[in-house]
Amino acid sequence: MTENWVRVCDSKSLKSGDMLDFDYQDKKIMIAKAGNNFFATDRICTHADADLSTGFMNEQDKTVTCPLHLSAFKLEDGVPQNLPATVPIKTYKVKIQDSGIYIRLD
Ligand code: FES
Repeated sequence: MTENWVRVCDSKSLKSGDMLDFDYQDKKIMIAKAGNNFFATDRICTHADADLSTGFMNEQDKTVTCPLHLSAFKLEDGVPQNLPATVPIKTYKVKIQDSGIYIRLD
């Protein structure tokens, strides 16, 4: 299967703590930078219809907290850390190439 890497933005356009919306076909994704690490996840909370990119990032723990009912999700694997959410958010592979942030969407 061919890998489908999609360029999102320039890697210098995000600073630590930033979360950026990115829509691709029917996917609602966010790119997050915590420290020097980039993450890509679905941005709609698995508990209800809240946009995680409008939530709160903890750069040390590398989590994003839902703005609606405050479940926190690990940015690395999408696993919820507390109720009410119980289902992980989908995560995507990220690479930096030619000063761009790419995510793998296949
Ligand atoms: S909508 Fe995110 S925890 Fe309820």
